[in-house]
Amino acid sequence: MISTAITPIDIKKTQTSRLSNVDFGNLPFGQIFSDHMMVCDFKNGKWENPKIVPYEPISLAPSAKIFHYGQSVFEGLKAYKDKEGKIWLFRPLENQKRINLSAERLAMPQIPENYFMEGLKALLKVDSNWIPTDDGSSLYIRPFMFATSEGFHASPADDYKFIIATSPSGAYFAGDVKVLIEQKYARSANGGVGFAKAGGNYAGQFYPTQLAKDKGFQQVIWTDDTTHEYIEEAGAMNIFVRIGDTLLTCPTSDRILDGITRKSLIELAKSEGINVEVRKIKVSELVEAHKNGQLKEMFGAGTAAVISPISGFGFKEETFNLPTIEESYASFLKKRMTDIQYNRTEDPFGWRYEVK
Ligand code: PLP
Ligand code: COI
Repeated sequence: MISTAITPIDIKKTQTSRLSNVDFGNLPFGQIFSDHMMVCDFKNGKWENPKIVPYEPISLAPSAKIFHYGQSVFEGLKAYKDKEGKIWLFRPLENQKRINLSAERLAMPQIPENYFMEGLKALLKVDSNWIPTDDGSSLYIRPFMFATSEGFHASPADDYKFIIATSPSGAYFAGDVKVLIEQKYARSANGGVGFAKAGGNYAGQFYPTQLAKDKGFQQVIWTDDTTHEYIEEAGAMNIFVRIGDTLLTCPTSDRILDGITRKSLIELAKSEGINVEVRKIKVSELVEAHKNGQLKEMFGAGTAAVISPISGFGFKEETFNLPTIEESYASFLKKRMTDIQYNRTEDPFGWRYEVK
């Protein structure tokens, strides 16, 4: 844990809150932005004190290195408000650790734990009225850091900006998702940056995802970059498969993001007596299991999408539909997980984190 002394956070409040314009009963995902943001600059080899300022455009030089060499990492987590108005986060220190893993891989500075956590808490307190209370809605939190130094030299920047912005959000996907198992493109490779939440990883997914959308699928199931025989991730989610009564997910690697939802679901499912296997999953195994009626469910898991059931997958020229089943693992685990997140049940794992 890196911690650097922090002085009281300077808060500059907006003169014109936009809160009353928001229709909290009808929230899109990540389209509406709360009144304030946290900003923290890295200059002369050290972090300046975090501050809270109105959410507004920032000014950068055209030669800022973010625009040229893509040094940019981000995180995603959510704040939940319970019936008593208490504010909760879910395993936020995992996000803090992960942004530093991503930062290290992109030769960017480490963000001290207290800057991340104190900055985030101060922001949530200022914008606490922006946290939705409706079931299925939450305040999506986007911490991100990028290179601000000017220069066309292809080398790491000296200066960076760390911002946390938030967005009251509803569901990420409107309904079930149909996915295409990718046979040509890859999102990551061994030794690459797939395990990092680097902005460029997502840019690289857009074109193949667009091609999949043109064929009627909403997402791509990424496969390993060398053989395309093994499934690895579902768009910006980790992938789970139920064959018979066993819940399967593939092991993480330097190609796959170590999802916080994924690792929580593995623990949760095991604690509920579900047989969980973490092992490589071949596309041919899915096709086989589908043919003999053993492929019961597939779903993606991630902070934004929570658990997103997959209603079918395309592979080569064939489409394999999955019937909706009662008592699915997806809906059971989603309820267990969100009950913990919204403080509707006990949290035997110690995952909930109160903001006070
Ligand atoms: N995989 C990718 C590529 C992602 O972008 C995300 C989203 O954060 C996930 C998986 C799920 O990770 P988490 O559960 O930590 O949100
Ligand atoms: C998240 O699930 O929080 C993510 O970061 C995915 C994002 C691309 C929306």
